[in-house]
Amino acid sequence: MKRILVTGAAGQVGSELVPALRQRYGTDNVLATDIRPAEGALSEDGPFKLVDCTDRDALDLAVVDFASDTIYHLAAILSAVGEADPLKAYAVNLGGLANTLEVARTRDCAVFIPSSIAAFGPSTPPDPTPQDTIQRPTTMYGVTKVAGELLADYYSLRYGVDTRGVRYPGLISYLAPPGGGTTDYAVEIFYEAVREGRYTCFLEPDTQLDMMYMPDAVRASIEVMEADPSMLKHRNAFNIAAMQFTPDSLAQAIRRHVPGFIMEYQVDPLRQRIAESWPRRLDDTAAREEWGWAPEYDLEALVADMLVNLRKKLAPVGD
Ligand code: NAD
Ligand code: SER
Repeated sequence: MKRILVTGAAGQVGSELVPALRQRYGTDNVLATDIRPAEGALSEDGPFKLVDCTDRDALDLAVVDFASDTIYHLAAILSAVGEADPLKAYAVNLGGLANTLEVARTRDCAVFIPSSIAAFGPSTPPDPTPQDTIQRPTTMYGVTKVAGELLADYYSLRYGVDTRGVRYPGLISYLAPPGGGTTDYAVEIFYEAVREGRYTCFLEPDTQLDMMYMPDAVRASIEVMEADPSMLKHRNAFNIAAMQFTPDSLAQAIRRHVPGFIMEYQVDPLRQRIAESWPRRLDDTAAREEWGWAPEYDLEALVADMLVNLRKKLAPVGD
């Protein structure tokens, strides 16, 4: 049975990945860690520990104490927050990853390392974006993601560490809020549609990005780690895709469930520039061929499920 340590577990991805890992491998076999305390099920239903991934000794101790054989390394500073403090993004995203890989090498752990659509830049072919292509991102977050992909490959080639990962598109979910990225509008819009029936979007109406519903992202993260290694030509940074939409087409899809929903625009130049530098559509052929990746949620299924769950979550107590 696997013994899994998850870093950055209290964030948008960890809040859903940890319960899925616990269901699959046993609650007591998955240690959630983060630099901040976790709320609810994450710390109440299973083991939780405060661990700063930039502190290699602390991470090492947690891995040894828990007898981990696998690390899901989620701790990161996302794109918009990273532009507000680029050196912090560098320290957490690259320093934290280097520590994780060193601990994995010395303690013989497999590692899951998420990359992002942000690992691409304005000179990348945007539609479709091939698996192997030009990567010259223009954000610090993107710089750390490309370097992280290379570092993960390096530890695999040089030391034989079992590193694997995917490039998540923008992720949409209702359990935990997003951590300060450029794709956050696609989560905020649902909260405001349910609460107010209107939303002011910080991206232009026709800005198309690659997006995914969290259940698909969680499943991909588990499936790539369980894939038969003999089938993998790539190991890290697999493009995975499920749907592509713009703020305008998302608003239209929401309007089919929330009649009269109003979408307004107040564009944030920083996040608009970042979004325009990212892929419009990822080519996920390699993931499909090498480990059988297939998404389950398209835009219609995502919108219906998000609204059902958010209406429950935001309903006044007693309803
Ligand atoms: P998030 O911001 O919601 O969560 C990140 C977590 O890391 C937070 O709980 C934060 O407290 C923690 N953290 C920050 N600094 C830390 C440190 N020094 N030590 C330990 N923990 C620390 O991010 P997320 O959306 O859950 O992202 C998880 C991973 O997925 C990241 O690598 C991110 O780059 C990647 N990703 C996310 C998306 C998305 O749309 N959410 C898209 C592409 C890639
Ligand atoms: N959703 C992330 C962001 O916007 C992409 O990695 O930063």
